Amino acid sequence: MKFHVPNAAIVSQVQTGENIYTLTISSPDIAREAQPGQFAHLRCGNSADPLLRRPLSINDVERDKGWVTFSYQIVGKGTQLLSELKAGETLDVIGPLGQGFKTDFSGKKIGLIGGGMGIAPLIFLSRELSQENQLQAFWGARSKELLPTFATAVEFPYAIATEDGSSGRKGLVTEFLLEQLSQDTQGTQNTEESFDFLFACGPKPMLAAVARLAPKYNIPLQLSLESVMACGVGACLGCTIKAKKHGKETQFKVCQDGPVFWAEEVLWDE
Ligand SMILES: Cc1cc2nc3c(=O)[nH]c(=O)nc-3n(C[C@H](O)[C@H](O)[C@H](O)COP(=O)(O)OP(=O)(O)OC[C@H]3O[C@@H](n4cnc5c(N)ncnc54)[C@H](O)[C@@H]3O)c2cc1C
Ligand code: FES
Repeated sequence: MKFHVPNAAIVSQVQTGENIYTLTISSPDIAREAQPGQFAHLRCGNSADPLLRRPLSINDVERDKGWVTFSYQIVGKGTQLLSELKAGETLDVIGPLGQGFKTDFSGKKIGLIGGGMGIAPLIFLSRELSQENQLQAFWGARSKELLPTFATAVEFPYAIATEDGSSGRKGLVTEFLLEQLSQDTQGTQNTEESFDFLFACGPKPMLAAVARLAPKYNIPLQLSLESVMACGVGACLGCTIKAKKHGKETQFKVCQDGPVFWAEEVLWDE
């Protein structure tokens, strides 16, 4: 069920990286219903520009307090306006929207792969999975400054790769993942050491690379995709991607059928 909350109170807004902000609002309805991987559509500012709402993944929830947290990087006018809001002001939010991650399992070994702001929804996911599963994360960013601070505040093992080497290992996070997968399986497929499930969110090239790797190791992979959105609720067809279902080519709406998909359902333009 989704809610339109026209005046959600802003609990806090803090800077958590270079041009990265973490915004917490009070909305008991959204906090209660939200599932990891879902997003909300936020109205940025009070004028007609930008006209359209902006989609942000749910970064975390505190259900007992009714709080919902988003983390975002300033990339344009909407996110700039969002960053100017202060605690005590209000925000017009619709959510939770879309299909989140499938998490109906326990006792599994889980790998989380997050790139840049793609780490945001994996934090909410890790909160839900960490009680009954063993988690390990692979976080990537272009540089230390672009790695959100919440990425390193988690209480499970994580490895960091930055493209400029300013934090963790120099290189791509997918190189790290590949190394770990080959080490776990030592040339054989699907030993007990390997991951049972992988979850990834981040830039498209990173997702495409993880989607190529996962089947080689027989590991089911769920991906959270981004797409430019207009309506956010399946009405405008503005967010469609090429997909495959039951062996046939089709189209999915990222806002309604996703943003989370099984990797094998996505067709990449490569
Ligand atoms: C389901 C979903 C979840 C998202 N979650 C997050 C999140 O948790 N944190 C976060 O920082 N960002 C997230 N995004 C991206 C975020 O919505 C955009 O950065 C934001 O809408 C940009 O708005 P703007 O007005 O600041 O920039 P604009 O002026 O609209 O755009 C600035 C630049 O960013 C590009 N851009 C805009 N929207 C997107 C998009 N959806 N995907 C890729 N490029 C885009 C534009 O092409 C342009 O180059 C998410 C997007 C989707 C679809
Ligand atoms: S944004 Fe309108 S259909 Fe997805």
